[in-house]
Amino acid sequence: MKADYKNWVPNGMIYGLGAAAAGLAGAACVIKNKPISALLTVGAFGCGAFTAWCIYANDQFSYTGKRKLSRQIVEGVADYVTLPEGGVGLDVGCGSGALTIACAKRNPQGSMVGIDRWGPEYASFSKELCESNAQAEGVSNVSFQKGDACKLDFPDETFDVVTSNYVYHNITGKNKQALLRETLRVLKKGGTFAIHDMMEPARYGDMEAFVEALKAEGYEDVRLVSTTNGVFMTPGEAKVMFLSGSTLLLGRK
Ligand SMILES: C[S@@+](CC[C@H](N)C(=O)[O-])C[C@H]1O[C@@H](n2cnc3c(N)ncnc32)[C@H](O)[C@@H]1O
Repeated sequence: MKADYKNWVPNGMIYGLGAAAAGLAGAACVIKNKPISALLTVGAFGCGAFTAWCIYANDQFSYTGKRKLSRQIVEGVADYVTLPEGGVGLDVGCGSGALTIACAKRNPQGSMVGIDRWGPEYASFSKELCESNAQAEGVSNVSFQKGDACKLDFPDETFDVVTSNYVYHNITGKNKQALLRETLRVLKKGGTFAIHDMMEPARYGDMEAFVEALKAEGYEDVRLVSTTNGVFMTPGEAKVMFLSGSTLLLGRK
């Protein structure tokens, strides 16, 4: 059995959009009212163009495709995760378990916990998928549970490491720096963090100020590392894949 990490642009999304494009185009052909028909045609082209992008992105992200962009990013984040002997790490928004498992593989001296809300927007991800992926990878120092990044079900200072990849930007209507604070809440004093997301000011506000605030509170070695300058992807890839602003927040509490 091989691990199946699915895709950040799932096949279901491609089929849905393709069907919508075809439906709108069909309706545009049969409807006699010209303005409505024109509107439906524009909609069909929009859905068609987005479907084409999704097919391309699905191929770029795929774990079995040529580019394997998701794998490069996940493994790149995991490289920043080091657990102490017997330590426990948390992966917030673990999806199909890719980052949790990559961290667990690198840290046989510790263990990882992956949490996710596994909602309908990423319907192909589930706790069962995470567990079967861990089994397929021969990794036993992991566990997975349902949870919400907005309010983690753990007491303060539970984990030795906290990590996350491309999760908080999905959580609309929430202050992203507050979400980071919630994740840092469950990190032990002396524990490290490696959090990767699209951290543009429009989403995250002033992250330089956030870093300075953490430093003022005693956090050490806090820094922002852009991952779109060839580290995880090229600037061109970041633009085409809508991953601009991808940044790692690193440091020690
Ligand atoms: C783009 S996927 C990334 C998955 C995984 N981190 C990876 O690198 O493959 C985003 C994930 O965030 C999860 N997510 C979104 N909002 C969440 C929340 N409030 N609490 C926990 N997980 C959440 C989704 O369910 C999804 O699995």
